[in-house]
Amino acid sequence: MCGIIGMIDAKPVALPLLAALRRLEYRGYDSAGMATLNEGRIERRRSEGKIVRLEKVLQKEPLFGTTGIGHTRWATHGAPVEKNAHPHANGTLAVVHNGIIENFASLRKELEEEGRRFESETDSEVIVHLLTREVERNDGDLALACREVLPRLKGMFALVAMFAGKEGLLFGARCGSPLVLGFSDGDKGESVGYFGSDALSLSGLAERIVYLHDGEWALLRAREEDSQLFDANNAPRGLSLQPMPVMAVALGKGNHRHFMEKEIVEQPSVWSDVLSARLDPATRRPRLPALPFLFRDISTLHMTACGTAYYAALVAKYWLEAFAGIAVEVDVASELRYRAPVLRSGDQVAMCVSQSGETMDSLEALRLYRKAGLKTIALVNVEQSSIARLCDVVLPTHAGPEIGVASTKAFTTQLLTLACFTLTAANERGWLSNEQTSSFVEALTCLPGLAARCLEKFGASESQFAEAAQLLARAHDVLYLGRGVSYPIALEGALKIKEISYIHAEGYAAGEMKHGPIALVDDSVPILAVAPYDRWFAKTLSNLHEVASRGAKVILVSSARGVAAADEGGVALAARVVLPDCEEVLAKRTDADKSSEENKTKEGEENARGWSVLEMMHPILYSLPVQILAHDVALLKGTDVDQPRNLAKSVTVE
Ligand code: F6R
Repeated sequence: MCGIIGMIDAKPVALPLLAALRRLEYRGYDSAGMATLNEGRIERRRSEGKIVRLEKVLQKEPLFGTTGIGHTRWATHGAPVEKNAHPHANGTLAVVHNGIIENFASLRKELEEEGRRFESETDSEVIVHLLTREVERNDGDLALACREVLPRLKGMFALVAMFAGKEGLLFGARCGSPLVLGFSDGDKGESVGYFGSDALSLSGLAERIVYLHDGEWALLRAREEDSQLFDANNAPRGLSLQPMPVMAVALGKGNHRHFMEKEIVEQPSVWSDVLSARLDPATRRPRLPALPFLFRDISTLHMTACGTAYYAALVAKYWLEAFAGIAVEVDVASELRYRAPVLRSGDQVAMCVSQSGETMDSLEALRLYRKAGLKTIALVNVEQSSIARLCDVVLPTHAGPEIGVASTKAFTTQLLTLACFTLTAANERGWLSNEQTSSFVEALTCLPGLAARCLEKFGASESQFAEAAQLLARAHDVLYLGRGVSYPIALEGALKIKEISYIHAEGYAAGEMKHGPIALVDDSVPILAVAPYDRWFAKTLSNLHEVASRGAKVILVSSARGVAAADEGGVALAARVVLPDCEEVLAKRTDADKSSEENKTKEGEENARGWSVLEMMHPILYSLPVQILAHDVALLKGTDVDQPRNLAKSVTVE
């Protein structure tokens, strides 16, 4: 979604602003622009399309000045064309804005009736005219003008404004959408001040930052001692700056072609980080932050999320119900408010799953839970995010910054964290003994090694993914099937491929095919089955027979035992992707440990409902092939892997 940057330096700011806009590209955008103060006058350059086009405009017509603002726009109101690109400006001031001004239509009417002329179709432009009117009414008192304008704007947004003739001053406000303020010490000891829509946009620039709280606004100057921060009641509050965290984006893509490739490849080590953070070596059980409830008092967990994060929550539903006996309700966040969920405090708690922690739909759903008095857990990757701040407990997923728009490592770290959450719940409710919980934990620690094996040939010409990728890349429509815990992975696989290769794909529960979708089957629709050799495999194999006998080209993602069973069963496979066999790996480990009585693991042992740790390992491991295939298909199709069209990384509008 839209990205904001603002900067006050002693040196020209156009180039650093451009570099910061590049760091904002990952959020998704379709036009960009910037404005600076040149001898007190506002000058601006804008362009539709990617930052390179803005760069070309700037090469022809450079911008000078030491105070400036920049913006990447993801169109909401008005097409992604130059006249709608930010900054919006007049001779008095320029504004960049992220979010939506919900009452813009009535404000626009009011302002037009006063004779103010609009140039764009955006909601954002009303801010320019409102601020200008208040600056005029308040004899140029900018602080007063800003204070007057904020209560008139309805919606969730962040904005930054720059004023003609006021070098070294920027105004910024946060009303629902994040805004960060920062400072660094320049080369000659002078100070540089910044606004950014996230910490990432300021990486490599600011050395100290502070996240504005909701309703807060600031008058930024180059030096922190000259800057002022006000709370939602306009009372001044001190700037409690924190050191800028080290950001992966500053380190770049390394040798990888895309951030998505890098983020897929780093999963074995990221999974190890998650497990180290979550597992207690002393008890050999998971370690969670203190929770404001006891698992044994909980009857229902409500979960909400969007997109990929929603599929992580769906996997957790299978786990929590089967391993811990907790009923789980999972809702797509954008829909939760449009039904009447039965929410009650006491025996119900809620969890919001979000990589960014800023997704507006999820935030709004979370507010509904909180209004009903439920204790809330934020399972987020960004610990400083709005969702994290709103919840009673934060469960960080420790994925590190994820830059590729298509979520990869954020998804699998959500799963791993949810696995640890489930094991704690199961243990505390007496569904898994201490010994069983530890043996499950030990089995989970095999996952990074299994992932590394799975990724061995990723990107190489002899990759086992090549054949399946070719088949998928030629198709217009693709179906992904899964059963049990593999069903959400089929949904995720279908989402991944449509996001970055623009191939129409749908995920179905394997058993649902015969209830309708099988009508779609012919030899032009490849069917990919996510089917580990598990308790449900035989049933899925029957479904594959049904589609294969109707001409479908079947791609089987399974272990060697699964592929052999399909071959023996006579399912003609068009392509196969063979993953390490978790069960065999665990069996070998148990054999090796046989001498030690204490280490006789019980991973294979089933719980009361007949589920074993394999049902926990499979969805995590089988996420990798669907990510890799989506990536490889996008490469074959030549699409933009990291910034697919129309998509935004952090979806801050409803
Ligand atoms: C898909 C993807 C999106 C996000 C969704 C929620 O690859 O990344 O579907 O999962 O927009 O975003 P977060 O997790 O930031 O709330």
